[in-house]
Amino acid sequence: MHPLLNIAVKAARRAGAIINRGALDIDRLSITAKGPRDFVSEVDHAAEAAIVETIHAAYPDHAILAEEGTAKGRNPSADEVWIIDPLDGTTNFLHGFPQYCVSIALKQRGQITQAVIYDPVRNDLFTATRGRGAFLNDRRMRVSRRQHLREALIGTGFPFRDGRHLDTYLQMMRTMVIESAGVRRPGAAALDLAYVAAGYYDGFWEIGLNPWDIAAGSLLITEAGGLIGDLAGEPNYLDSGEVVAANPRVFAQMLNALAPHRAAIAAQVASPAV
Ligand code: IPD
Ligand code: CA
Ligand code: CA
Repeated sequence: MHPLLNIAVKAARRAGAIINRGALDIDRLSITAKGPRDFVSEVDHAAEAAIVETIHAAYPDHAILAEEGTAKGRNPSADEVWIIDPLDGTTNFLHGFPQYCVSIALKQRGQITQAVIYDPVRNDLFTATRGRGAFLNDRRMRVSRRQHLREALIGTGFPFRDGRHLDTYLQMMRTMVIESAGVRRPGAAALDLAYVAAGYYDGFWEIGLNPWDIAAGSLLITEAGGLIGDLAGEPNYLDSGEVVAANPRVFAQMLNALAPHRAAIAAQVASPAV
């Protein structure tokens, strides 16, 4: 295993142990609201601290972009930036709904080169190093081989925090419900992306994501032979937070199906958040 990936795995497993311990007594956790429908618990913070400590013990000069803000602004000129979601799927976690994960990616000079997504409930470890393939535990992962959207199982997430996109999103959802074999919304975007890489889903789309939801999953998908882009299929997805990801055949069909809604989303992005 690449030494950088090895550190990321160690960090993810430490965070996973903290999350599993927290899950034993959720009712006793302290929880605060960051905004409407946006909660954070002491477990998110403790998991993030453990990840950053593990990375900085090995690589003190690397920069950190982590959801809860740990080590923000440190080493601003570093070529290496770790992009971290210590607990993706916090709402699920706080309800005891067993679908959440840790997501850690390394960006080096603008490219994602290492990725780990760890599901502490199932002890599933999804990993990738750029150019060396993607793995689920010890098994090589490949995206699915389904050829047609009408046979495809598609994952998604709702834009539940920023109301600007909701009506257009529901139109997108209508299209996908009609044109695919089924749509699922489990509630942890990073794990959804890992499921595209593993071939569980044939495709996935969501809007309004953050870089820490997407970064690790994006490398898993491309290393597993899949494609990821924004709603136009372009590579700006980490910044825009719009993601379409799928096997290559289904990717093209999803972009076509969602194309009629693209202009509306672009207009909403230009308007103030609600
Ligand atoms: C959220 C989850 C959810 C997605 C949201 C994310 P969090 O992350 O990934 O599936 O729909 O957009 O913010 O807040 O649980 O880390
Ligand atoms: Ca997240
Ligand atoms: Ca999170």
